[in-house]
Amino acid sequence: MPVAGHVGVMSIQETRHRDCHSEVIRLDDAAVSLGGRTVWSHVDLTVRAGEFVAVLGPNGVGKSSLLKAILGLIPLTAGRAQVLGASPGTHNARIGYLPQRRAFDPSVRVRGVDIVRLGLDGTRWGVPLPAPLGGARARAARARVQEVIDLVGARDYARRPIGQCSGGEQQRLLIAQALVRRPELLLLDEPLDSLDVTSQAAISTLIRTVCQRDRVAVLLVAHDVNPILPALDKVIYLAHSGALTGAPEQVITAEMLTMLYGTPIDVLRDRAGRLVVVGQPDLPAGTVPPQIPASR
Ligand SMILES: Nc1ncnc2c1ncn2[C@@H]1O[C@H](COP(=O)(O)OP(=O)(O)O)[C@@H](O)[C@H]1O
Ligand SMILES: [Mg+2]
Repeated sequence: MPVAGHVGVMSIQETRHRDCHSEVIRLDDAAVSLGGRTVWSHVDLTVRAGEFVAVLGPNGVGKSSLLKAILGLIPLTAGRAQVLGASPGTHNARIGYLPQRRAFDPSVRVRGVDIVRLGLDGTRWGVPLPAPLGGARARAARARVQEVIDLVGARDYARRPIGQCSGGEQQRLLIAQALVRRPELLLLDEPLDSLDVTSQAAISTLIRTVCQRDRVAVLLVAHDVNPILPALDKVIYLAHSGALTGAPEQVITAEMLTMLYGTPIDVLRDRAGRLVVVGQPDLPAGTVPPQIPASR
């Protein structure tokens, strides 16, 4: 559909860019430090257009920090990163980001539709607010907001104050906000956590559809891999000393995870075929992770 100017028209050049098997993210031997300690190091990752990748690992291992490093919000302390062909932070207007979050307070009166609209003309990434839109561009912007609200199935509650929507409804609206500019890369930090099982499956399928149809690269942080397992191309399992990347069935095995974390880990399949990882070390916030032998 025709959307003008900064509200997200996809140029021929951009279309070509998506059509080739370009690397959307490339990390080489990357490391990040926070508060004077290394969160993770020796991380390699390649994500191509149209790939759906899950970011997995125990609490505190640095999954959210990985997304922030890709956005250039925290600097690498070692290694190299390329995002959409440039240094992190350069092309953030072409990235949809859903930060890890808690629910909106029930007193928040802003409507869902306005939250989605902020994704078009808000001050994300320090991009200056554009002048108010007039005429055709305003109509195109409204149409795009409505289109993306329909896409995530949020039409029935998009005009309600967001504080009065359920956790799952809020999350759908925030996913719509991340999608509204037709990003080339989607970074979603635990987007399924506040959803019931049915909504998890629906949102996972929706993200998969957008990812394939528009060749959007998706990096999705997940607490539980099972709801997205059928949709995934690849996982990155993060540890202090490095990361394992590959097809889910190659990476999520007792042998690989035991090697990655340096501690015995079992991977079980329950009767429904769900993967259960047992023995994965959770790192309480602020603790220094043990020095684990390099995994690569
Ligand atoms: N601004 C900060 N300053 C110092 N340490 C931080 C900061 N933000 C996060 N951390 C620490 O960095 C580690 C990784 O955090 P995070 O990326 O949020 O992990 P995850 O998303 O995997 O739970 C945690 O131990 C956390 O306490
Ligand atoms: Mg996190």
